[in-house]
Amino acid sequence: MVKKDSSTTVTTEMPKENVDTNMKKSELHKFFLAALKDIYYAEHALVDGLDKMQKSATTEELQDAFEDHQLQTKKHISRLEKVFTLLDEKAEKKECEAIKGLIKEAEEIIKSTKEGTMTRDAALIIAAQKIEHYEIATYGGLVQLALTMKHDKIANLLEKTLFEEEETDYNLTDIAETSINFEAEEED
Ligand SMILES: [Fe+2]
Ligand SMILES: [Fe+2]
Repeated sequence: MVKKDSSTTVTTEMPKENVDTNMKKSELHKFFLAALKDIYYAEHALVDGLDKMQKSATTEELQDAFEDHQLQTKKHISRLEKVFTLLDEKAEKKECEAIKGLIKEAEEIIKSTKEGTMTRDAALIIAAQKIEHYEIATYGGLVQLALTMKHDKIANLLEKTLFEEEETDYNLTDIAETSINFEAEEED
């Protein structure tokens, strides 16, 4: 029902939320689904990653921030499960090399900084923000694709997660700039 390749505005009768057989065959739909599986994997990996980061952080403030975001991350997983349901697809993980690398980088920081130092927290915040930025880029793009494909409910769910990732990023900046970076600078 969708005419292939037309740069003019095409009006179609796409169903409101999803997924008829034609759409399921489209390359964009396949890409969208693969990207959802990728971030579904990433969110699972982050539950463990945030756990390690929380246990390794020096300050209670940063420990709490990681703990709060771990709880949010579990919500992100269940939102993605709703998205798969709305698409009439099984929730599946697809290994995500990017998040594996970012988590590895956080682990390297834990190894290479001294326990109990503010330098460790300053470095962990940057590692965590790299992760948030990856998620923000992913969810930002997926929200736009969902809107384009008229998956309004899905766009809405993904946008909720996007806002939480953004909020976490701001929060981490705030923690770094109000205390941790300055205290790290004082360390030998
Ligand atoms: Fe997340
Ligand atoms: Fe996140």
